Amino acid sequence: MLRSCVKDTDHRKRRASFIKMKICELLKSGYSKISLVRGAAFLDCEVVLSYLLGVSKEYLLAHGDEVISEEDALLFDSYMDRIVLGEPVSYITCHKEFYGNDFFVDKRVLVPRPETEMIVEMVISFLEGVVKYADDGRKLKLVDVGTGSGCIAISIAKHFRDYLDDPLDEVFAVDVSEDALDVCRINVEQHGLENKIQPLQSDLLEFLEDDEVCDIIVANLPYIGEVENRFVEKNVEKFEPNVALFGGDDGLELYKKMFQQIKEKNVKFRLMIGEFGFAQGEKMRELLSKYFEQDEWGIYKDLAGIERMFVVKKKY
Ligand SMILES: C[S@@+](CC[C@H](N)C(=O)[O-])C[C@H]1O[C@@H](n2cnc3c(N)ncnc32)[C@H](O)[C@@H]1O
Repeated sequence: MLRSCVKDTDHRKRRASFIKMKICELLKSGYSKISLVRGAAFLDCEVVLSYLLGVSKEYLLAHGDEVISEEDALLFDSYMDRIVLGEPVSYITCHKEFYGNDFFVDKRVLVPRPETEMIVEMVISFLEGVVKYADDGRKLKLVDVGTGSGCIAISIAKHFRDYLDDPLDEVFAVDVSEDALDVCRINVEQHGLENKIQPLQSDLLEFLEDDEVCDIIVANLPYIGEVENRFVEKNVEKFEPNVALFGGDDGLELYKKMFQQIKEKNVKFRLMIGEFGFAQGEKMRELLSKYFEQDEWGIYKDLAGIERMFVVKKKY
């Protein structure tokens, strides 16, 4: 009883302080609340308020004196509380931009990271330059393993959609998590790619038949180590799905398992690209030389000069 009285009083005080607040005042109050925990605090405030009001960031700046409804002001304040607790802004707004496209995201999927755009760029330049079609002239099959929101598969498929000679025939967006696949389906539909991309539940490449051709394999699998290489921010672990983060003792267990599947099933691919964590370059080299010693492979650095990607090229 006493507890709810205290709560009510607090709530009344809070309401009183938000009555007739202007956009600029609300942004300022949000900034002062989250600036201690967020580097880009003002931008976050703008992103959250423009999402809440359904207007652009430019609108907010041009209409700083506009008065906001009490309900919106209280909601904005509750979003600021969630940011203070460490929740990603993208889970509040349910949006994340990746490779120039807008994706729906929520706590069922990892928030797409900008460094992963490099996978998309590399596949696109490969398909635009080296390989237009498979050797026998058919269009190509692409598999995105650990698709999450579907950001990689969708960005690649969308890039080629309007080409007269789209090199892609079918695209499989694979994940072990049904929750993640539900989010992926939302994005596939949002981008109008239902005829091109098939979301599919599978433990890595388990769904493939022996000797199946799978021209392009892309993967951003969980790679945080549970024993070694346990480099993970507290809030990432707290808010993002653990199935999207951890990759066994050294972080590379899922890659190892996928390489083993490729070998055992004799999967025929032309290009495979994957992302791994910083400080895992040496271990990845060992794996690649063990599983793909006959093939052309390399390790690539991200824009910060850190080894983050592997590429394997193969003849069928
Ligand atoms: C690091 S997230 C990457 C998500 C998305 N591709 C991206 O780049 O933002 C890894 C994804 O792999 C999925 N995953 C984990 N274990 C898997 C497995 N054994 N087979 C297939 N997918 C798996 C997770 O559910 C998660 O969606």
